[in-house]
Amino acid sequence: MPPESAGPRTIVVTGGGSGIGRAAVLACAKRGDRLAVLDKNGDAAREAAKGALQCGATAAISLDCNVQSEDQVAGAFASIVQQLGAPYGLFANAGIDTGGPIHELPLATWRLVMDTNLTGVFLCCKYALRAMLAAAVPGSIVCTSSPTGFVALAAGGAGVYSATKAGISALVRCMAIDYARYGIRINALVPGATETPLMWNNVPPENVGRMRTQVSSEIPLGRLAEPEDPAKAVAWLLSDEASYVTGSHLVCDGGILAKACISV
Ligand SMILES: NC(=O)c1ccc[n+]([C@@H]2O[C@H](COP(=O)([O-])OP(=O)(O)OC[C@H]3O[C@@H](n4cnc5c(N)ncnc54)[C@H](O)[C@@H]3O)[C@@H](O)[C@H]2O)c1
Repeated sequence: MPPESAGPRTIVVTGGGSGIGRAAVLACAKRGDRLAVLDKNGDAAREAAKGALQCGATAAISLDCNVQSEDQVAGAFASIVQQLGAPYGLFANAGIDTGGPIHELPLATWRLVMDTNLTGVFLCCKYALRAMLAAAVPGSIVCTSSPTGFVALAAGGAGVYSATKAGISALVRCMAIDYARYGIRINALVPGATETPLMWNNVPPENVGRMRTQVSSEIPLGRLAEPEDPAKAVAWLLSDEASYVTGSHLVCDGGILAKACISV
């Protein structure tokens, strides 16, 4: 099996225009990687690619891409291979968090969250794997799961979001087994409560301050994560430092999943 390639690598980040994805783009840029930033928000992707170049990326391109669309994902990967070469790394991270109680949940909302979070990860992995296999690149893929893939959030109403994250975790384990023989490592990131627009998406703006204080008091490390915290874990999984790590979940949650909620 060929060794992992040295020197600048092409890393693809979906949802790279904001939050954890953007922080991962900048963390990889600081290592001198070549970055491809994908986001349905093209302006945000362009800004992140510009930031990547300022942070030291060897090259950075942005692609306006909705991960729900197979045509758009296929086109984005074709463009990446042409401009930056076959990807060494993929951070399949784009996601949304919306939902509500299952008996009230419109089918359209279920499908939107499934198509974005789970189908989006499937499509990006499909085209990244094709490009890696075609170029015989022993690459690394990281997919963003969540504590909600393992436990139910106390606030409730997170059924569809949680189902997508549990699906991503299962997909990661299966892909890790399927592609180990090619030297392609596939892992999941499990970020805890992280200061991004998604974190407060379902909270009325006037309640965010109070909720931040409450949530911080419930996290063993006593604070929410900054996007740079999980981004460092992603950069590690995408590096040679993690050369024997595949099929695993890297939990970066300040201790949330380690804690039982009963007070005895
Ligand atoms: N913030 C948290 O507390 C937290 C916790 C656990 C897991 N996560 C997961 O981390 C990932 C990143 O979330 P974040 O908190 O950085 O959110 P964010 O809202 O800051 O960033 C998400 C990005 O994904 C993009 N995106 C959304 N739908 C897309 C689509 N269909 N196609 C392409 N791009 C799309 C958005 O435009 C945005 O730039 C998500 O998968 C989320 O579920 C977040």
